[in-house]
Amino acid sequence: MKVLTKEEILKSLREDGITFIPDFWTKEKCENALEELSQIPPQAFEGGQGGDKRFQHTNRYIPSAQEFLTNSFIQEIANEYSECNDADRVMTTILNHIPNKKIDSGGGWHVDSMESHQFKAFMYLTDVNEDNGPFVFVKKSKGLVDDLPMHDNNRITEETINERIKEEDIIECVAPAGTCILADTTFVHRGKQIENGKRVVYTTYFYDRG
Ligand SMILES: [Fe+2]
Repeated sequence: MKVLTKEEILKSLREDGITFIPDFWTKEKCENALEELSQIPPQAFEGGQGGDKRFQHTNRYIPSAQEFLTNSFIQEIANEYSECNDADRVMTTILNHIPNKKIDSGGGWHVDSMESHQFKAFMYLTDVNEDNGPFVFVKKSKGLVDDLPMHDNNRITEETINERIKEEDIIECVAPAGTCILADTTFVHRGKQIENGKRVVYTTYFYDRG
């Protein structure tokens, strides 16, 4: 597997809004994180938009999350990409399939904000396939956002996506555990509805303190 340079990562972030770093963590490291997470009581998790389970500030309690939060390579990318570069916290999201229930992470198509940038780093702790709720991202969608009709909380209907977005620009982020995804979530994205299994992800939130 070709290792991407910092410049290649930044180019892809600027052009597409997203970049993938394969094998950022080993399988063992992901399994260790899952083991640490299994010690957290269920009541520490809150329900997110879309029905996933979220554990805020995971980094305060779990060493692997703190390590992800303070990763110097990701920090360098954040610093060069935009002013949205203050690593605030790591949140864990768990998606669990429940028969006959529609569950996703994020509650459908949306943008996180209408600001100039919103940088996030994702770490897949489980293998993510088409069925267990992959992150879905519309590359090159930044320029379209101002003209897309939105409803509450920057949400975008499926009809709007079908009308305005080219299918080839929609990336389903199917990848093995250990893959790190860096994305600007002012681009259009969603979590796909889970049909099977379980998906666990660490997300680092970066803020612009300027
Ligand atoms: Fe989002």
